[in-house]
Amino acid sequence: MDQSHIRNFSIIAHIDHGKSTLADRILEMTDTVEKREMKEQLLDSMDLERERGITIKLNAVQLVYHAKNGEDYIFHLIDTPGHVDFTYEVSRSLAACDGAILVVDAAQGVQAQTLANVYLALENDLEILPVLNKIDLPSAQPELVKKEIEDMIGLDCSDAVEISAKSGQGVEDVLEQIVAKLPSPSGKPNAPLQALVFDSLYDPYRGVIAFVSIKNGTIKPKDKIRFMASGAEYEVIEVGVRTPKEVQEDELSTGDVGWISAAIKNIENVRVGDTITHVENPAEKPLEGYRQMQPMVYCGLYPVDNARYDDLKDALAKLKLNDASLQYEPETSQALGFGFRCGFLGLLHMDVIEERLEREYNLNLIATSPSVIYHVYKTDGEMVAIDNPAALPPAQNIDRIEEPYVKAEILVPKEYVGAIMDLCQKKRGEYVDMQVIDEVRMQIVYELPLSEIIYDFFDKLKSSTKGYASFDYAFTGYRPSKLVKMDILLNGQIIDALSTIVFKDFAYRRGNAMTIKLKDLIPKQQFEIPVQAAIGGKIIARTNIKALRKNVLAKCYGGDISRKKKLLEKQKEGKKRMKMVGSVEIPQEAFMAVLSMD
Ligand code: GTP
Repeated sequence: MDQSHIRNFSIIAHIDHGKSTLADRILEMTDTVEKREMKEQLLDSMDLERERGITIKLNAVQLVYHAKNGEDYIFHLIDTPGHVDFTYEVSRSLAACDGAILVVDAAQGVQAQTLANVYLALENDLEILPVLNKIDLPSAQPELVKKEIEDMIGLDCSDAVEISAKSGQGVEDVLEQIVAKLPSPSGKPNAPLQALVFDSLYDPYRGVIAFVSIKNGTIKPKDKIRFMASGAEYEVIEVGVRTPKEVQEDELSTGDVGWISAAIKNIENVRVGDTITHVENPAEKPLEGYRQMQPMVYCGLYPVDNARYDDLKDALAKLKLNDASLQYEPETSQALGFGFRCGFLGLLHMDVIEERLEREYNLNLIATSPSVIYHVYKTDGEMVAIDNPAALPPAQNIDRIEEPYVKAEILVPKEYVGAIMDLCQKKRGEYVDMQVIDEVRMQIVYELPLSEIIYDFFDKLKSSTKGYASFDYAFTGYRPSKLVKMDILLNGQIIDALSTIVFKDFAYRRGNAMTIKLKDLIPKQQFEIPVQAAIGGKIIARTNIKALRKNVLAKCYGGDISRKKKLLEKQKEGKKRMKMVGSVEIPQEAFMAVLSMD
C-alpha cells in the first residue's frame, strides 16, 4: 500500500487507564478480529503459541481501517511493555512508531507513568493524540483532566476525544483522528535498508523472530542481512506481519512493521534497538539510540535442594533465550552452596524471573536480598564493580565506594506532601523540585540512592498515601556514599548470604532491626542461637533465639486428628523454603528481611 496510507502508532497510558481495553476495541472495530470470535480467536492463537513454547505477545498488529473518507488505511498498532523496569524497551517500541495515543483515565487524571511515557514519546519525536477514557464512570471529570494534560504536558486538548473503551463509545473518533492527525512514515523505499529491531522472541523451530519497523529500504526472503550493533550476519528465510495471526509476505517495505526469521539461534545477536541492514549496499549509519541494557539489581538464586543445581542452570539458560536482559553467572556461597548471581532490570523483572523459574521449571529457590552494583575504588587505584556484598574487599583496601542514584518523580495529593518528603528524607533523598499540578495534586522530585528504592520504598509510598501516590524513576549516575558491609552471624558463624552493604549512619539501626527480625523469622531449635550483626569484626547488635521447649503439637489439645495433620502439613509447606546452614535452619523470608526493616 501507498506509504501515505500507513499509520504506525502505540497506545501509551499509566497502568490500568485502559490501554488493553482500547486496543481490544480497535481490533474489533477494524474487523481485525470479529466481535463474536474475539475472545476465542485470540485465545486459540495463544494456545498455539504456548504449545510451541513461545512467549505470548501481541507486539505489533497490522489492521486495515476503512475511513470515513472512503479510503483504506493500514494501521500498525505496536505494543509497549507496561513497567518502569522496561523503559528502554518502551522507548524502542515507540521509536518504531510515528505517533502515540495517550490514554488518560478521566476519573484519575495524569499519573506518574502517564508523564514518563509522554517524555519517552516526545524523545522519539512522536505526534501525541490525547484521549480521555472511562467517561462512563460517574466520577469522570474529562474537562478537569484535559486542563491537567494541557498544563502539565502542554498538549492541546481542544480536540481530545472522550471515550469509553469499555462500551466502545467514541472509539471511532479515535480511529478518524489517527488518520487525520498522525503522520505517515517518512522513509525512502529506494534508500539502503534500515530496519529497527524493537522486540524479539524465541521460537524453538525457527529460532529468533525479530520484530522490525522498516525505516528505509525493503527486505525480502534470501536477502543477506547484518545486525549493525552485534555484527551478526544471516540470510532471511521469511518475512511477514501479524494480524494478529502470523501472515507471510513477499517483502516488507518502508513504513511496514512486521517480523523476520533467519534461523537465528542466539538471541544475543538480536538486540532490541539494533538496526538491520543489507550486507551489500548497507546503510551508512545505524538508526539512533542503540544502547546495551545494563541490569540494575542483582541477587543470588540457590536451589533449596542442592541436587537441583543443574536443573536451575538449564532453566536459566532457557529463560535467557527469551529474555536477553537476564544475566547470570555461577556463584558459591558458604551458607547456601552452589547457585547463580543473577542480574535484572529491576525488582519487577526479578520477581517475574523468580516466579517463572518456580512455576515453569518446578524449582524451589532461595533468593538472597537484592543488591545494586557498587563502584568500589581501592587504595591501589583500581575500581571494581561489586554486585554481591559478600565480595566487598576488606575495609582497609577501600578508598571510597560509589552507589547508583535515581531521580524519582512522585505525584501525590497535597495533604500527603509532608509524608512523602519525610519518607524521601529518611531514604537519604535529596530534594530537587516541587510543582503544583492542579488544585489537589503536587509533583515532587527527589534524587535517591537506588539501593533505598529497591527496598521497601514503593510499599512505604503506597501505605503513607493510602495508595494515592504514583511514582516513576530513572537512573542518573554514581555518587560517593559512606557505605560499610554489615555481616550477620548465626551461632557465631558469618552467614555470607545475609551480608548487606549499608549506609554507615544507618548501620546501628539496621543491625538492630535485622537481628530482631531474624529472631522472629528463624524457627527455634533445640538450642539457643545467638544472632549478631557486625561491621568489620565489631559486633553492633545482638539478640538470641531461645531454645525450643514445647512440642508443636501440644497446641492441639489431643483429639482432633485433622487439625494435627493440617498443622504438620503447614510445617512441611514452610519447610520447603528452608535452607540448613550449619546447624541452623534459615527460611527464605530471612534473606529478604533486609527489604522491610525501617
Ligand atoms: P495494564 O495492562 O495493567 O497497564 O492496564 P491497561 O492500561 O491495559 O488497562 P486495562 O485495559 O486492563 O483496563 C484496566 C481496568 O479498567 C479494567 O478493569 C477495565 O475493564 C477498566 N476499563 C477500561 N476502560 C474502561 C472504560 O472505558 N470504562 C470503565 N468503566 N472501565 C474501563
